Amino acid sequence: MLLYLFLILPVISVTSRSWNIHDRSVPKTISDRLIELATQGAFRGVTYYRLAALADTIGPRLCGNESLTQAVDWIRNAMTSEGLENVHVEQVQIPHWVRGEERVQLIQPRYAKLSMLGLGNSVGTGSKGIQAPVLVVRSFDELNVRCEEARNKIVVFNPQCDWKAQPIDCYGVVVAYRSGGASQAAKCGALASLSRSAASHSIDSPHTGVMTYDSSYPKIPAASLSVEHADMLERFQQRNQSIEILLYMEAQTLPDVTGYNLVAEIKGSILPNETVLVSGHLDSWDVGQGAMDDGGGAMISWTVLSLLHYLNIRAKRTIRCVLWSCEEFGGIGADQYFLAHEDEVPSMSIVMESDMGVFHPLGLEFQGNDKAQQIIQTISQQLISINATQVIPGGGGTDIRPWQLRGVPGASLYNDNWNYFAYHHSNGDTMNVLNSTDVDLAAAAWAVYAYAIADLDDLLPR
Ligand SMILES: *[C@@H]1O[C@H](CO)[C@@H](O)[C@H](O)[C@H]1NC(C)=O
Ligand SMILES: *[C@@H]1O[C@H](CO)[C@@H](O)[C@H](O)[C@H]1NC(C)=O
Ligand SMILES: *[C@@H]1O[C@H](CO)[C@@H](O)[C@H](O)[C@H]1NC(C)=O
Ligand SMILES: *[C@@H]1O[C@H](CO)[C@@H](O)[C@H](O)[C@H]1NC(C)=O
Ligand SMILES: *[C@@H]1O[C@H](CO)[C@@H](O)[C@H](O)[C@H]1NC(C)=O
Ligand SMILES: [Zn+2]
Repeated sequence: MLLYLFLILPVISVTSRSWNIHDRSVPKTISDRLIELATQGAFRGVTYYRLAALADTIGPRLCGNESLTQAVDWIRNAMTSEGLENVHVEQVQIPHWVRGEERVQLIQPRYAKLSMLGLGNSVGTGSKGIQAPVLVVRSFDELNVRCEEARNKIVVFNPQCDWKAQPIDCYGVVVAYRSGGASQAAKCGALASLSRSAASHSIDSPHTGVMTYDSSYPKIPAASLSVEHADMLERFQQRNQSIEILLYMEAQTLPDVTGYNLVAEIKGSILPNETVLVSGHLDSWDVGQGAMDDGGGAMISWTVLSLLHYLNIRAKRTIRCVLWSCEEFGGIGADQYFLAHEDEVPSMSIVMESDMGVFHPLGLEFQGNDKAQQIIQTISQQLISINATQVIPGGGGTDIRPWQLRGVPGASLYNDNWNYFAYHHSNGDTMNVLNSTDVDLAAAAWAVYAYAIADLDDLLPR
């Protein structure tokens, strides 16, 4: 406890007026002022408050749903009244998938309702549903071996992975079945595909997400099952008990609708033609509140501009906040943004996206060449007071990827997100996952990195 006080007190003392009067010889850096404002000053708790107001009032923001447009309008109005610059939306075409009613009922060996969520892009089952025996497999290899057995059945993919050791790697392994399982099952003549949720931890929580169809095979319905229920089905099979399931899904894809990427800026003082882009996506899945994925990332990106505006500080370059539309169906809004702004590749210093949580910040995940990496390392020293100085390789994000592929350096928030995949794409993604103090620290770290990069003498080398 003493140690804790010792570490925190100097930061608090910076905020007191007497400290300024007695110690004029040590002017505060802009980074210190940003950190102080976000964590102790007028903006303390503001990012969490804004996000809670949005998540509670508007709720989740599925691509194509009116709630996503409401969220854009709400933030756009708030940004405009706040006095941010160049606040505007850019139109994009986005898919409109609707879930409708859905259920999975176990018929044999006993009746039970199973915990499920249909997957984005999936077709529905028709009004009678699909009742069929089940084949459980752990991998595509096993499905290939048992391909004949899958005919006219519902295939259940139950991939295993050591989530505690390698959460991000496991996500990749398991998501392969969520995205591609239906077409692989259809190839063997299956009627529907159910896949184990991509979850690091589960209290019988199904986790949704997007899937895609391979056009060579018939489109069959696809849903996720909770980890517990996928394992139970596998145990029935191991005991040679025959399993029968009734799957009912009203899911359908309606014609594309207009969506909006939301943009605001703080123009550069010397090089307004050069840009640092900070971003998060405003759309979410239609379960939970889309608080962690990615309301938090969107909100801290907004806060970057709010802090600078409040302090009346401009970096040399423009800092642009973009809140993306329809990331969850595959970076749909961001891909169109890139096509419309491709001419900015030479003037984009870095593209930043926070989409892996706004938990306690540790530093920056960065992708760029060695020289740029060294510059970021130097900047990281401005975050010593909040201990967010680690610069590690990484820095990807669905929405910034097109820029990165063209050589623009990229970054994401490195944060203590070990529990991210417990909540991701589930009903558990609510405000309760987030901690207001940590969100403030995340916003502070995000702002200092963005500002310091925008205020360098040169564009980041690439
Ligand atoms: C938006 O989502 C709500 C809640 O799921 C649903 O009732 C409504 O029909 C959806 N609207 C559109 C246009 O998809
Ligand atoms: C299930 O059936 C297989 C194949 O007939 C047999 O090898 C296996 O021992 C059976 N398992 C149980 C638990 O009865
Ligand atoms: C931005 O404008 C400045 C001054 O006009 C110019 O020197 C610089 O090359 C421009 N940046 C880019 C990337 O074009
Ligand atoms: C700073 O972060 C590092 C790495 O996350 C951690 O090991 C260390 O204990 C932290 N220091 C303080 C003072 O919190
Ligand atoms: C929230 O985060 C702060 C700072 O990391 C921590 O001190 C506090 O205990 C956390 N609160 C909860 C409820 O976990
Ligand atoms: Zn996300």
